[in-house]
Amino acid sequence: MAGTHIMSFDVASVRRQFPILSEIIDGRPIHYLDNGASAQTPLAVIDAVRTYETTGRANVLRGVHRLAERATESYEGAREEVARFLGVKPMEIVFTGGCTAAINLVAYSYGSLLKPGDRILLSELEHHSNIVPWQLLRQRSGVELDMIPVTLDGRIDLDTLPKLLTPRTKLISLAHISNVTGALLDVRSVVAAAEQVGAKVMLDGAQRAPHGPLDLPALGIDFYVFAGHKAYGPNGIGVLWAKPELLEAMPPFHGGGSMIGRVTLAETTWAPPPRRFEAGTPPIGPAIGLGAACKWMAGLDWTAAHAHEMALVQRLMDGLQTVDGTHLFGPAGLQDRYPVVSFTLDGVHPHDVAQTLDAFGVAVRAGHHCAQPLMERFDLDGTTRVSIAPYNDNSDIDALLTGVQHAARTLR
Ligand code: ALA
Repeated sequence: MAGTHIMSFDVASVRRQFPILSEIIDGRPIHYLDNGASAQTPLAVIDAVRTYETTGRANVLRGVHRLAERATESYEGAREEVARFLGVKPMEIVFTGGCTAAINLVAYSYGSLLKPGDRILLSELEHHSNIVPWQLLRQRSGVELDMIPVTLDGRIDLDTLPKLLTPRTKLISLAHISNVTGALLDVRSVVAAAEQVGAKVMLDGAQRAPHGPLDLPALGIDFYVFAGHKAYGPNGIGVLWAKPELLEAMPPFHGGGSMIGRVTLAETTWAPPPRRFEAGTPPIGPAIGLGAACKWMAGLDWTAAHAHEMALVQRLMDGLQTVDGTHLFGPAGLQDRYPVVSFTLDGVHPHDVAQTLDAFGVAVRAGHHCAQPLMERFDLDGTTRVSIAPYNDNSDIDALLTGVQHAARTLR
């Protein structure tokens, strides 16, 4: 079946929708394998933003003129697209400035409902954006943080959950997919364990959202966040989804226009969610672009796309294993993982590997990947990370392998 899908996935037609992929930059084609940091943008998104800028640009939710109405319709239409993509209701979607901004919103707003001594459970492999906001909350309010360790193959070690969960654990916040190892979280087990102690579950979906539509209610979680720019949308836009009763209970994070019920000089009442959390003029064009990105993703055959992505992961792993001195960091197989692959090359700093790859036209990320505690745990200077999108093809992987072979020959 997977073979059939690989045959039926037309990567060339997907590539044609991404103008940057056919550019020649500094005399070289682009082999873009840094999608985990920021993905490229299809024409559907570029066109949606251009249409807003050229035929519908105005502020939203304020004006009565034609352009304002058009802008509001497009902005709220984008919220509907995002909601459809996540399998939830539009009014449960809060637009934020990014994924980090969404986590900070929850840490500040939901966090303000927690009491000193309440506990939040994270893991050792979290991105800094899912660690630092909670440390700031700890400083402000006296909550305690606990950390789930990571297994040798780069997964969150859920066997330790029974020991770490307590009746004071109020929230478990974990990466849906590790931005370093590509490991997919066993959400069902986390939710089942959380239910035992009445804790809420938040997932950082930054690395999962770019790989197709989700059914959040089926996951049984309470909060979900992701970034627009990693999901083929514009920069400066992110999403928070939360169960409506949680959004209802949460106080505002930022104050300003649009988020109010009524303002007097003495006091202010809040608008209902999601407006309560969208103070000021929101990132309108980026939100419209993200709506278009979600619609674009929903139109792709993800069974075929995922099989294609994972076939590239296999090609990459097989190729790396033929280069003396390379070590994969993360799950060894294709089971329960997504197409993010980290590796090291003995005796060569990951930055030097990445720089050599750049000379071969290959873009990857190298370093600590904003996951310093994970690097420290495994005593690593960093890794070289390959992150794959549906528009990548064999030529991208082969160019990378040629570059790694060159680095192994010349840098040691
Ligand atoms: N969070 C992004 C990454 O992992 C920047 O590369």
